[in-house]
Amino acid sequence: MKISDAQFAGSSTKISEKPKRRLSEFAFIGRSNVGKSSLINTLCNKKKLAKTSGTPGKTRLINHFLINDSWYLVDLPGYGYAKMSKTEKAKLTTIINNYIIHSEELIQLFVLVDCRHDIQQIDIDFINQLGSNQIPFSIIYTKTDKLSQTALNKQIEKNKEILSEWWEEMPLMFTSSSSTGNGCEEILEYIGSVLKTI
Ligand code: GTP
Ligand code: MG
Repeated sequence: MKISDAQFAGSSTKISEKPKRRLSEFAFIGRSNVGKSSLINTLCNKKKLAKTSGTPGKTRLINHFLINDSWYLVDLPGYGYAKMSKTEKAKLTTIINNYIIHSEELIQLFVLVDCRHDIQQIDIDFINQLGSNQIPFSIIYTKTDKLSQTALNKQIEKNKEILSEWWEEMPLMFTSSSSTGNGCEEILEYIGSVLKTI
């Protein structure tokens, strides 16, 4: 799968406000600052498509990006930003849950996890909720440019061990770096293969 065209298609807070075209959606979720918006930009090879920031809590809306005039990449707000007010956190949780549970076009959710740390309880709780709601998901480890290959493999094995407490079968796992582009080809290949089955 090659992305030859990527266009911002609209921001929304609920699915009734989504872009009207009913096309397959692949969405990115994960803790604030994990690198969701950056990865979308790298996948699309467009530096300023999605807004990124060194400060967590940048993306507060559901952002649709129309890819090759035929499907959407969806950038979601992050969860688990400690410094956000309770009211704001609750608002974002409602936006995220309403979208992932009710969007009929959502084909696959990519849960992004920083490769430098153990997968956190908040990620596990989120993933378990996806399981209960039967929402297909994969994991993408981000910021792999910050670790050696050996350290990366070790961390992934450790996270598998942590996850195996809840999950008998492991979800698909990808690695990525928005700085080097590592892993992007595999992610796009995967999306392409899923789109072929629809
Ligand atoms: P929210 O919208 O706040 O939830 O954050 P986000 O998950 O969209 O993160 P964003 O893409 O805005 O990136 C957060 C920070 O991490 C920025 O300073 C990025 O430059 C940095 N970053 C993202 N991806 C990578 C990566 O692959 N490698 C490195 N070294 N830094 C990255
Ligand atoms: Mg973002």
